[in-house]
Amino acid sequence: MKMVWAIIRPERLKEVTDTLKDAGFPSLTEFSVRGRGKQKGIVIGGMKYEKLPKELLTLVCRDEDVEKILDIIVKTGRTGNIGDGKVFVLNVEDAITIRTGQRGIEAL
Ligand SMILES: Nc1ncnc2c1ncn2[C@@H]1O[C@H](COP(=O)(O)OP(=O)(O)OP(=O)(O)O)[C@@H](O)[C@H]1O
Ligand SMILES: [Mg+2]
Repeated sequence: MKMVWAIIRPERLKEVTDTLKDAGFPSLTEFSVRGRGKQKGIVIGGMKYEKLPKELLTLVCRDEDVEKILDIIVKTGRTGNIGDGKVFVLNVEDAITIRTGQRGIEAL
């Protein structure tokens, strides 16, 4: 199993999560976060904003679904401007559905 961490623009959140749901990936967790990338923030009207609001999506999926999920996030999340976000993929050891006790991919 893999965990996808996607840090995206808040204004792309609905489109990204709706597209994931329609493609068969409804389960996810979202967090409102603040962060910075390689531009170290942004200057607007003389004010320096060190960290910018982003949305962090986390999804755990089967190995074979990762590329489909990444493709949706990148295509749907992209505006082409700096700050579009970042995606990380991590290995996941195990999962449990609390209600049923199912383990591993059965729990997804
Ligand atoms: N190396 C990193 N580790 C953890 N989080 C990161 C990293 N790089 C970016 N982020 C997170 O992703 C958000 C968006 O990053 P951003 O899209 O600005 O990346 P970038 O590398 O600067 O790309 P771009 O040049 O397109 O702006 C940041 O606000 C931060 O929350
Ligand atoms: Mg950046």
